[in-house]
Amino acid sequence: MCQNIETDGKKKVLSCIQPSGMLTLGNYLGALKNWVGMQEEFDCTYAVADLHSITVRQEPAKLRGQIYSTFALLLALGIDTQKSTVFIQSHVPEHAQLSWLLSCYTQFGEMSRMTQFKDKSAKHADNVNVGLFAYPVLMAADILLYKPDLVPVGADQKQHLEIARDIALRFNRIYGDVFTVPEAYIPKTGARVMSLQDPSRKMSKSDENINAWVAILDSKDDIIRKFKRAVTDSDSCVRMSDEKPGISNLITIYSAVTGKTAAEVEREFDGKGYGAFKLAVGEAVADELAPIKRRYEEIIADKKALEALYREGAERAEKVARKTYFKAMKKVGFVL
Ligand code: TYM
Repeated sequence: MCQNIETDGKKKVLSCIQPSGMLTLGNYLGALKNWVGMQEEFDCTYAVADLHSITVRQEPAKLRGQIYSTFALLLALGIDTQKSTVFIQSHVPEHAQLSWLLSCYTQFGEMSRMTQFKDKSAKHADNVNVGLFAYPVLMAADILLYKPDLVPVGADQKQHLEIARDIALRFNRIYGDVFTVPEAYIPKTGARVMSLQDPSRKMSKSDENINAWVAILDSKDDIIRKFKRAVTDSDSCVRMSDEKPGISNLITIYSAVTGKTAAEVEREFDGKGYGAFKLAVGEAVADELAPIKRRYEEIIADKKALEALYREGAERAEKVARKTYFKAMKKVGFVL
């Protein structure tokens, strides 16, 4: 049986993460750290967006493992199933169902302008499938089903969130007040963590160069090694500047982890050189991630307990999702 969560009067939060590969420090600082913090104040719903990950080809056994491990990692981070609803997207069929409905209220032209579609279709030129194109509509369905006020995401998801808002507004204009129009919640520090090897690019788990990204589950030694190797510049001054994208990225990471402002970080490392700074960033990140890794190993070892939690989460999520979905169907004119 599914337990009730105390939600009275709280604003609602919804967000999802794809289970494609190891989650990175970018995922953590751009989104997941906020997900954990928001649980006290908000009524939160979080999902592993497994349906999204097949827009690029996946190996079945590997995908299955990644779905488990992403769910376990959310719990290890401190997402509490007593406070928040946590589930696997494909377990709640209303996501795919509402996605179809919404796709009939979404224009081909607006989808064609999505930068992520342009990037991914260039990268996977042999598999520019319709799912990849329609991906933001599924994301809009993920969001709108739960009527959230806020959607905590990194800066790269802003455009997708705007489309979700546009679709909601359009639907509401025709049929009345069906969907809540959500706001993006983007952190001030860490919204765009860049690659450690090429700071003009976003840190991404799909980067083939493993030194370019830090996984939440990396060992302390690997984390420190990756920061030591981070690409910087030929200067030696720790300063935030558009001309110093590598160092600026490291300052952002250090600030996001320690809570210090960029000015405080600049003062702390004034005259100390890049070697000391890179080591300090690596240690701060490793210390923040170590307890998560320990908890993850305990949680992933008990598949039965994990399964009970994701089943219960889906049951709870579906109660909410079904209501919104039926309301939208009824408004459009379907016989229920
Ligand atoms: P995904 O799985 O790529 O990333 C999950 C979250 O991590 C953030 N993120 C970053 N933030 C800062 N710096 C980075 N380098 C970085 N890389 C990733 C992302 O912005 C995201 O918040 N389409 C979404 C998943 C999704 C979703 C949703 C999100 C599906 N349905 C509904 C919100 C609401 C995605 O692919 O995120």
